[in-house]
Amino acid sequence: MVTPQTILTRKTRYAIFLVLTITDGGVDRVRDVVSGLPGLTRSVSSRAPDAALAGIVGIGSQAWDQLFDGPRPQGLRPFTEVDGETHTAPATPGDLLLHLKADQLDLCFELGTALTRAFGDSVTVVDEVHGFRYFDLRDLIGFVDGTENPVGQAAIDAVTVGDEDPGFAGGSYVAIQRYVHDMSAWNSLTVEDQEAAIGRTKLENIEMDDDVKPSNSHIALNVVEDADGEEIDIVRDNMPYGDVSGTGESGTFYIAYSSAPDVVEEMLRKMFIGDPPGNHDRLLDFTTAVTGSQFFAPTVEFLEDPPPAPADGESSTAPGTETATRAADGSLGIGSLH
Ligand code: HEM
Repeated sequence: MVTPQTILTRKTRYAIFLVLTITDGGVDRVRDVVSGLPGLTRSVSSRAPDAALAGIVGIGSQAWDQLFDGPRPQGLRPFTEVDGETHTAPATPGDLLLHLKADQLDLCFELGTALTRAFGDSVTVVDEVHGFRYFDLRDLIGFVDGTENPVGQAAIDAVTVGDEDPGFAGGSYVAIQRYVHDMSAWNSLTVEDQEAAIGRTKLENIEMDDDVKPSNSHIALNVVEDADGEEIDIVRDNMPYGDVSGTGESGTFYIAYSSAPDVVEEMLRKMFIGDPPGNHDRLLDFTTAVTGSQFFAPTVEFLEDPPPAPADGESSTAPGTETATRAADGSLGIGSLH
């Protein structure tokens, strides 16, 4: 029996997203805090049980090897930059992701404050984003976001690792990107042009027929199929965020959960490189990805009773991170793990 983290909730009104890196010598403390996250979330949540507080932690590829000895999730690898002709999805630092969501912002704030206090100087905050629900689940660009998310058993199947990786069954992969919108450019489009960029009508949120939906529309490019032609689902939990003054940034915090990282990677290639190459996602002409990282969210049992910490210099190395993580002396270059 495994208990997935509380990823599949109803769409909440608020979320706080924290992307953290682990500081030199911070590993022991991080292990403790991460292990206590389910209990801490229960404590805060029980003060307002109707507000659906969930606190989810994701662990990055490189951090995994610093934190845990033994096997690692099969698909866990760093986010890869996607460099298209016109637009780039950058890969940015991120050892830990905290996705704190609820119908009350005070609960997210309380949990986030307790966690950052507990982490102390064992982490550096690289991005903190406070997301909010915007009208009827719309993004700041005015379109309803999340419509085609799977529900029920299909959602569970879409986000949960199964028998293909038995040691990590019940976990999920999670990818994040923060996008900054150019709202004045977007607002200078006609509604018809905006609808062509998304592939759905704006007010009623109806999908365009395939014969009129442009091939560079967001939803045309985001359909990924398996070998049998079946669409492969992911679960997105995006939130608008931002400053109201024109001088600040506003946009979308994109977050997607999946049972394997390949699907999101394929979607990003189709959006940024284009399908066929050069036919990139029209939405990207109005929004810029400024961050990108991926993580693995293990089960509650794993968090509460993790494997031992690796001995100095003995941990396995994540695919693609050998040169980045190994210091000249052959150690992980992260200080003492004890
Ligand atoms: C659909 C907005 C980024 C994957 C949609 C829809 C909107 C939207 C309005 C249509 C309604 C719906 O089904 O949810 C945005 C915005 C983004 C963003 C504002 C960032 C600025 C991404 C990224 C990915 C993605 C980075 C994947 C890597 C999808 C998928 C669908 C979708 C899979 C459903 C396609 C379908 O089956 O119809 N998005 N999205 N989105 N988006 Fe995004």
